[in-house]
Amino acid sequence: MTMSEPKAPQPKEIDWNNLGFNYMNLPYRYRAYWRDGEWQDTGLTEDANVTISEGSTCLHYGQEVFEGLKAYRCKDGSVNLFRPDQNAKRMQKSCERLMMPKVPTDMFIAALKEVVRANEAYIPPYGSGGTLYLRPYLIGVGGNIGVHPAQEYIFSIFAMPVGNYFKGGLTPTNFVASEYDRAAHKGTGASKVGGNYAASLFPGQIAHDDGFSDCIYLDPIEHKKIEEVGSANFFGITKDGKFVTPKSPSILPSVTKYSLLYLAEHRFGMKTEQGDIYIDQLDHFAEAGACGTAAVISPIGGFKYGDNFHVFYSETEVGPVTRKLYDELTGIQFGDVEAPEGWVEKA
Ligand code: PLP
Ligand code: COI
Repeated sequence: MTMSEPKAPQPKEIDWNNLGFNYMNLPYRYRAYWRDGEWQDTGLTEDANVTISEGSTCLHYGQEVFEGLKAYRCKDGSVNLFRPDQNAKRMQKSCERLMMPKVPTDMFIAALKEVVRANEAYIPPYGSGGTLYLRPYLIGVGGNIGVHPAQEYIFSIFAMPVGNYFKGGLTPTNFVASEYDRAAHKGTGASKVGGNYAASLFPGQIAHDDGFSDCIYLDPIEHKKIEEVGSANFFGITKDGKFVTPKSPSILPSVTKYSLLYLAEHRFGMKTEQGDIYIDQLDHFAEAGACGTAAVISPIGGFKYGDNFHVFYSETEVGPVTRKLYDELTGIQFGDVEAPEGWVEKA
């Protein structure tokens, strides 16, 4: 018996303007199998279920890495991928950390395009605000029981149309500092591995139960500096107009964050810094936000840490610099604003 998955609704039944961030079983996904030291049996499948050995390392020892990126429907009907090479490279780094075989960049990007084209009818229309979210993942499989890297692996990419990850979209929402850590100082925080997210489920639930969008993790050594949000990086705009974002070995190197650092400096002439953001110095900031593929740019209204509640720009209005960065980034992604060289690839 296999667990069954309901099929996605027909594209014409989808409310593109109110998608949220939910799984949908689209018609096609990509699969590739690593056996005898090479990728084999590559291609699309309609089977949403993955059947693996009970001894698979992904089940017991968390030998799993994943990625997240999006396909964007442009005004002229074409489809953009945003910096897919950066996701390929980050997945290769995550694979090094968990001792897994790498998916070459060319294979990664070609597979993304196959999935996007096969599920083309599910790419939200231009102007709806929706995008096609792509979820590549790689798992260790096969009969194992000792704590060793697997001999065999499955790489897959599935997709689903999505809207806002945080329900506010460009309206600020509130976040809370977690007492827990998602990753150790020199642990796996900089890798996109499932275990980091397993560790974030409980703190995330506490934050949601208390009415916050998500928690913000502090540095795992002293709990004095901001690290990142459970599903996005953190950035702040100082009162003198500098774009600042934390530097730490235990945060995920966000493609969106690096893109914003570049745009702030090269398009808006802002000073930028990757450094320490101490929670007792939040008064230096005029605006703050969470940035990531799913989060895009989500303004942070209020931030609760201990008994303090700090409001950055406003709990109800997005700040002007955050909005400017949002417009530039999403303009590039949807093909309305000229992209820096190599950032956008047609699917
Ligand atoms: N930090 C965490 C923990 C994430 O899960 C993500 C999402 O991928 C990010 C940051 C943002 O990274 P990116 O901008 O590459 O999507
Ligand atoms: C992404 O932004 O792509 C992520 O992976 C975040 C998330 C949904 C965990």
